[in-house]
Amino acid sequence: MSPKNNPVMVLEKVCKRFGGVVAADDVSFELEPGQIRGLIGPNGSGKSTTLNLISGICDVEPGIILLDGEDITKKAIHERARMGIARTFQHPRLLSRCDIKTNLFLGHDLGNMRRASGASQEIDQSVDELLDVAGLKIGMDDSIKTLSYGQQKLLEIIRAILTKPKVFLLDEPAAGINTREMDRIRALIAIAIRNKAAVLLVEHSMDLVMSLCDIITVLNFGCVIAEGVPAEIQGNEAVIEAYLGRRRHA
Ligand SMILES: Nc1ncnc2c1ncn2[C@@H]1O[C@H](COP(=O)(O)OP(=O)(O)OP(=O)(O)O)[C@@H](O)[C@H]1O
Ligand SMILES: [Mg+2]
Repeated sequence: MSPKNNPVMVLEKVCKRFGGVVAADDVSFELEPGQIRGLIGPNGSGKSTTLNLISGICDVEPGIILLDGEDITKKAIHERARMGIARTFQHPRLLSRCDIKTNLFLGHDLGNMRRASGASQEIDQSVDELLDVAGLKIGMDDSIKTLSYGQQKLLEIIRAILTKPKVFLLDEPAAGINTREMDRIRALIAIAIRNKAAVLLVEHSMDLVMSLCDIITVLNFGCVIAEGVPAEIQGNEAVIEAYLGRRRHA
């Protein structure tokens, strides 16, 4: 199954090289509102690079990225954020010297600029609901340093959801977290989906990917080697070979 209704984001033959390493090689796929696309592949296959290309951390060279039909390939990171692209990182990137409120509202201000003003009550409710779903019983004035690694990952997800993203990129949300936190992450992603975000989920936890994703793209050496629903991907020979570590041209 391939998304066929109005995609919010389209990647067309997106490429990225780091010296001799081809980290993204003609990567193409679409993201649809309210759907979760998994992006999987062995270590070093180009998953984080693909998120970096979408969020603007890396320059696409060459290739095209469209958001709502608009070419954003050359836009800066902050412009893309304002247009509705939010993300989390493989290792949480929070301001360790700042309190929780400052960290949460960093992304939030960008979301506000995109929306009509006067939404503060709605925002307060959203924060309370999201913290509750995440099981974070924390004070807004507490330091980020009081949070465990898993709690920081949850907070980063909340920060992104608060901006009501059109496109939500998650880079290995389940890495380094416990089972209970994993359930919290599932619940937070469900909220993003309820808000009609198009989710791109990079993840090594096959349990999470296979149970959550509508469709999955598989990368190996920067190339898309398979695309399909979870059942198709699980039985795909090329995917199994890639995960067993057979080297290209070996
Ligand atoms: N900033 C960079 N400079 C040089 N090479 C890079 C850079 N970022 C990524 N690479 C290389 O590009 C390739 C793809 O890396 P990437 O981080 O996208 O892989 P990944 O699929 O996210 O892997 P993992 O599952 O380990 O997180 C790797 O060979 C990596 O070493
Ligand atoms: Mg990565």
